[in-house]
Amino acid sequence: MTILVTGGAGFIGANFVLDWFKTSDEKLVTLDALTYAGNRNNLSSLDGDMRHTFVRGSIGDTALVMRLLEQHDVRAVVNFAAESHVDRSISGPAPFFETNVMGTVGLLEAARHFAGTRPGFRLLHVSTDEVYGTLERDDPPFAETNPYKPNSPYAASKASSDHVVRAYHETYRLPVLVTNCSNNYGPRQFPEKLIPLIIHNALAGKALPIYGDGLQVRDWLYVGDHCSALRRVLEAGNIGETYNVGGDNQKTNIDVVRTLCALLDQKRPRADGTSYATQITHVTDRPGHDRRYAIDARKIERELGWRPAETFEHGLSMTVDWYLDNEAWVTDVTSGAYREWVARQYG
Ligand code: NAD
Ligand code: DAU
Repeated sequence: MTILVTGGAGFIGANFVLDWFKTSDEKLVTLDALTYAGNRNNLSSLDGDMRHTFVRGSIGDTALVMRLLEQHDVRAVVNFAAESHVDRSISGPAPFFETNVMGTVGLLEAARHFAGTRPGFRLLHVSTDEVYGTLERDDPPFAETNPYKPNSPYAASKASSDHVVRAYHETYRLPVLVTNCSNNYGPRQFPEKLIPLIIHNALAGKALPIYGDGLQVRDWLYVGDHCSALRRVLEAGNIGETYNVGGDNQKTNIDVVRTLCALLDQKRPRADGTSYATQITHVTDRPGHDRRYAIDARKIERELGWRPAETFEHGLSMTVDWYLDNEAWVTDVTSGAYREWVARQYG
């Protein structure tokens, strides 16, 4: 049997694929369009491994997805493929709706035709807590019963995709599962997201941009914990259900950045002996910036027995170590050289 992972060359998808083979010998096909955010090298340690197949292509290509499902006798799909960065969705929303909504529809079309021929088939759609909108300081965390109220184009596109997935379940009885997760951090995150951007800019001697007052709150989860939650939902989740996933780790952005500076001060002190915190610079706030996210993850704990294993302190320290040990990875994904290689390799 085989599982199909879409978006498996991106941040969470690559961590999921690499973790998969630590605990399973089941075959896995990665389907990824290799956009700017997808890095083929994330999976290079699997080159030559007969259990893994990499295919460059889009989830919106129904015929391609159908062929992969049939050829590999796929028992489950995990859909990570998306445009994922909120700031990019503000400067250019269209690709977010093309990939996250219409791409998901293309994938679902293949899945619904295939599912009828494959007993036990399921599709896990990986989504975000941003679909619930924003919380005030004293509001309770987001539960699965919260209404959808997305604020950014990214969040609206993910909310739309969740609705489409739900509609395919209700209308066509497609066996689906949905997860809504909080902010992830860890190895292989593209250095446009807060944590890797701060590490990268700090080492490069650049400004560390804090949007607005920096008192916005995010609920951080180590990527390995997100992957273990997804494996658990895939294995034991009830079809048609949604599970919220979070780390119970609410931090203000400014606290996260100060903690990163303190870790870098210890691990790679600045040449002039002063703290990286001197590079912190407050900049214009993100339009429509959600003030606070927090996840109530009691359902997945109660029903499936999942809890995060990592503390924020240890997870962040490991993450800083990974970026210090993999500066070439950052250069690679931020330079044209990698994209030229992709063009030569895949056309
Ligand atoms: P990412 O941007 O790092 O990776 C996205 C991957 O999808 C890339 O490899 C990209 O090449 C691929 N892709 C884009 N369009 C595609 C298409 N049409 N067909 C096939 N592949 C395509 O994203 P990420 O941070 O790893 O997020 C993965 C998923 O998890 C997304 O759906 C995102 O909404 C969700 N999510 C992310 C977070 C987070 O904190 N990063 C939290 C909750 C949920
Ligand atoms: O909550 C889950 C979501 O988390 C995922 O669905 C998204 O795919 C993922 O990108 C992430 O969205 P955020 O917008 O929360 O993440 P980002 O890393 O872009 O920003 C985190 C916070 O830090 C946010 O409040 C904006 C702020 N920020 C971000 C950047 C890039 C800054 O203050 N400065 C920055 O330079």
